[in-house]
Amino acid sequence: CFAESNDHICSVTKDSCSLNDYVPAKLLIKGGIVVNADRQEIADVYIEDGIIKSVERNIKAFDEIQVIDASGYYVMPGGIDPHTHLAMPFMGQVTIDDFFSGQAAALAGGTTMHIDFALPSDGDLLEGYKLYREKASIACMDYGFHMAVTKWNDKVSKDMEVLVKHEGINSFKFFMAYKGSLMVTDEELLQGLKKCKKLGALAQVHAENGDAVAEGQIQMIELGITGPEGHGFSRPPILEGEATSRAIRLAGFVNTPLYVVHVMSIEALEEIIRARQSGQRVIGEPVISGLALDDSLLFDPDFDVAAKYVMSPPIRPAGHNIALQNALSSGLLQLVGTDHCAFNSTQKAAGKGDFRKIPNGVNGIEERMHILWNIMVNTGKMTPMGYVRVTSTACAQIFNIYPRKGAIIAGADADIILLNPNTTFTISSKTHHSRIDTNIYEGWTLRGKIETTISRGRIVWENGKLNVSPGSGRFIPLPPYSYLFNGIDKIDSDYLASIRASKQQKK
Ligand code: URP
Ligand code: ZN
Ligand code: ZN
Ligand code: ZN
Repeated sequence: CFAESNDHICSVTKDSCSLNDYVPAKLLIKGGIVVNADRQEIADVYIEDGIIKSVERNIKAFDEIQVIDASGYYVMPGGIDPHTHLAMPFMGQVTIDDFFSGQAAALAGGTTMHIDFALPSDGDLLEGYKLYREKASIACMDYGFHMAVTKWNDKVSKDMEVLVKHEGINSFKFFMAYKGSLMVTDEELLQGLKKCKKLGALAQVHAENGDAVAEGQIQMIELGITGPEGHGFSRPPILEGEATSRAIRLAGFVNTPLYVVHVMSIEALEEIIRARQSGQRVIGEPVISGLALDDSLLFDPDFDVAAKYVMSPPIRPAGHNIALQNALSSGLLQLVGTDHCAFNSTQKAAGKGDFRKIPNGVNGIEERMHILWNIMVNTGKMTPMGYVRVTSTACAQIFNIYPRKGAIIAGADADIILLNPNTTFTISSKTHHSRIDTNIYEGWTLRGKIETTISRGRIVWENGKLNVSPGSGRFIPLPPYSYLFNGIDKIDSDYLASIRASKQQKK
C-alpha cells in the first residue's frame, strides 16, 4: 500500500474508526416490533459498544442499562441513503447542506448512513476524493462515497484502481448528461465499464441523452419558454429511456453489473425491467421525489415555488410516479435514494429568466423515510419488511456492507430507528433540520413518525431533539466484488466458449 506516500489517504488499511470520542451507553430496546427485510417479530434488542449483541424476547435489564420501551413501535434498521450530494459544487453554486447539516437532517429523519457522490477536482479523481474526505471531517454519522468519472485517460484508469484497492470506493458514476461539464461520451463510458468490471466495482449511470437535452433546451428558449416548466419539456422521458437502454446494452456487452441512479420515468423503468427479465444484472434506484411527486408544481406561476422542483432527470407528469411505486413494491426496482442536492431560494434564483441556469436538485435526505412510509406502507402497497428492504437492506447488500449495516441482528452496527405508526406531523422548512430555506414537501401532513434514531448505539434523535457533534461520524469503506459479481466470470467463459463453438461450426 502506498497510502503513506502522501498522494492519497488510505482508509482501508488504517483503522478508519472514529468511534473513540464517546462511549455509547448500554441500551435495551424492549418489546418493539423488530423488522428486518426477511422477518418481523416482537423482540428486545440489546446493544453494547455500538454493536447489537442480541435480538431475543425477554432480555433481562441490568442496573446500568438504559431501557427504551418500544411497545407499539416499529424497530427497524436505520435508513441508508445511496444517493446524496453534500457540499457539492454544481452549476456555479455549492449545495447548501454540508456533511454536518445534511447528516443532522438525515438523522432527524431516520437515516443513519448515506453514500455521497465525490466529484473529481478538475478531472482528477484522487484530488477530488481527498477534498471530499476533508469536507466530511465534520460528519456526525456514518458515510461512504461513490466517485464520479467525468473523462477518460490512463490516469483516471489508474486512479480508479487506487480508489478501489486503497480507499474504500466500490462504485463509479458516469454522467450521460450535463454536456460540457460532467458528461462522458459512449467511448468513455465503455472504457469505464470495462475498468469497473476489472476492479469488481459497480458502474452507475445518470441516464439522459445529454446531446439531445442540449438540443431540447435550445428549442425551448427559441419557443420563448424560459421558466422552470421549460426544464421538464427540454428533457422528456424518451431521452431518459434512450440513455438507460444504451447504458444497459453497453453494460451487457461488457458483462458487468449496472446501477441506474434516479430512475424517474416509465421509459427508463421499462428498459430496466426488460434487462432484468433477460437475466442482466441491473439495479434501478428511484428517488423519493420521483416516487412521491408529479410535475404539476413545476408549472407554478411563482418562480420560487416552481424552481424548487427543478432536478434532473425531471420530476415527470402524474402516472410515472405511480408506475415507479408499483415497480418498487413488486421488486422490479430495488432501493430508494433521495438525490438530496439542496439549493436555497437565492441559489435557485440564478435561473430566473433562463431555466438552464437553475441549479438542479431537490431536498429529501430528511424526508425520504417518512414520505416512503406514507406512500407505500400506509397505503398497503408495501409491508414494513419491504420498506426495510428498500430503505436499508438492499443498499447495504448492493454496496457490500451487509449485514454490518441493513439488519437488526447480533453483530451488526446498532443503527436503529423507532417509528411510531400513530403519530402525525407536518413537514415545513420552518422546522426541518436541513439548511435549505424551502421544502418540496412543504405542508405535507404525514402519519408515522420516527421518534428515536440510534446511531452506533448512541441516541442521536429523541423527543424532537438532535444530539450530534461534528466529527463523530465515521467513514465506512465499501469493499469491491459485491454479490452482483458472483458468477460473472462463468457467464464470460460460457460466452467465449459459445463464440469458439460457432466459429468452429462455420469453418
Ligand atoms: O438534479 C440533480 N439530480 N442534481 C444532482 C446531480 C445529479 O445528477 O445527480
Ligand atoms: Zn492505500
Ligand atoms: Zn445524476
Ligand atoms: Zn444525484
